[in-house]
Amino acid sequence: MRILFMSDLLAFYEEDLKNSLFELGLSPFTLSDEAVEKVDEVEYIIYSPVRSSDGTNLDRDFSLYKNLRAVLSLYAGVENLTKNPTLNCPVVKMVDEGLTRGMVEWCVAHTLRIHLGIDRHILGQDGTWRKNIKPLLARDRKVGILGLGSLGQPTANALNLLGFEVHGWSRSKKKLGEICCYYGDDGFKKILAACEILIILLPLTEETFHIINFKTLSYMPKSAAIINAGRGGLINDKALLESLKAGHLAHATLDVFSEEPLPPTHPYWLHPKVTVTPHIAADTVIETSSRSIAKNIQLISQGNTPLGLVDITRGY
Ligand code: NDP
Ligand code: OXD
Repeated sequence: MRILFMSDLLAFYEEDLKNSLFELGLSPFTLSDEAVEKVDEVEYIIYSPVRSSDGTNLDRDFSLYKNLRAVLSLYAGVENLTKNPTLNCPVVKMVDEGLTRGMVEWCVAHTLRIHLGIDRHILGQDGTWRKNIKPLLARDRKVGILGLGSLGQPTANALNLLGFEVHGWSRSKKKLGEICCYYGDDGFKKILAACEILIILLPLTEETFHIINFKTLSYMPKSAAIINAGRGGLINDKALLESLKAGHLAHATLDVFSEEPLPPTHPYWLHPKVTVTPHIAADTVIETSSRSIAKNIQLISQGNTPLGLVDITRGY
């Protein structure tokens, strides 16, 4: 079996990936990077987007690989792949236990920061005994999560365990324990109107592009906060900045941006109501993601459905 590692991360993954493939009895295999000669023999491509020096994504030509059985993404977000017209095989997004744990921790931390008003004390340590504003308990706070997939559901469950009243929104109808679930256009308006803290964990697709815009921001209650760990293109930046300026939205915590790295002159950097983190909410963990990839190769080679199979027409 020939596996092409179409990413500049092979040096980091090679050992764990080989071990995981051996453990599942998938040998003999060849794992190599771009230098591969026998393109017709490549059955699996492990992919991460490569950026050119000007920061744009380089599109790959997958049509060269005539016997491709699947492209396995090292990222959970696959917007670079779903739009690639040269792809003619299944695409599998990353579902990784390590990545999920990281996202849950990041979302919980930033939710608690907003919920408890932690900045008031950390940034305002000036000799004033500010005992007048008491934080609410989690059970008195409504938190919404847009996207109830591999990352959204565990985040919803973690916040629910802390006592928050958790609301979630997805494309299809769901029933998830104590989470108040919404779906579709009608549900979208309802969840925005209900929640004081809104976490965004949606994929970027044609349907979700600029889903947070002038109109939809107006559905949110005054002084609400947004936490975006999905993709930058989910938010219309102009609308977000306007809403913060007007005092409607109180704060935005942003990990992802339409242009990454976020340009040094971007207004988000110095904005007092915006927190910028550099796309670090969650990272694929080499050890666990190598196991996920090997498991998916095994499933596909046995004719089974891999975990994280992408629906190209839906875009995620
Ligand atoms: P999934 O594909 O597992 O879940 C996506 C969720 O979004 C699903 O619940 C889906 O609904 C919902 N959804 C998609 N389109 C719509 C729509 N039009 N209307 C309503 N709901 C919709 O994705 P993951 O949870 O694995 O990842 C989510 C995103 O997080 C990734 O696409 C990526 O962009 C981002 N990400 C960011 C990272 C970071 O470090 N900042 C790290 C990893 C991922 P349904 O359940 O009905 O299908
Ligand atoms: C991902 C990401 O999609 O890191 O995995 O953003």
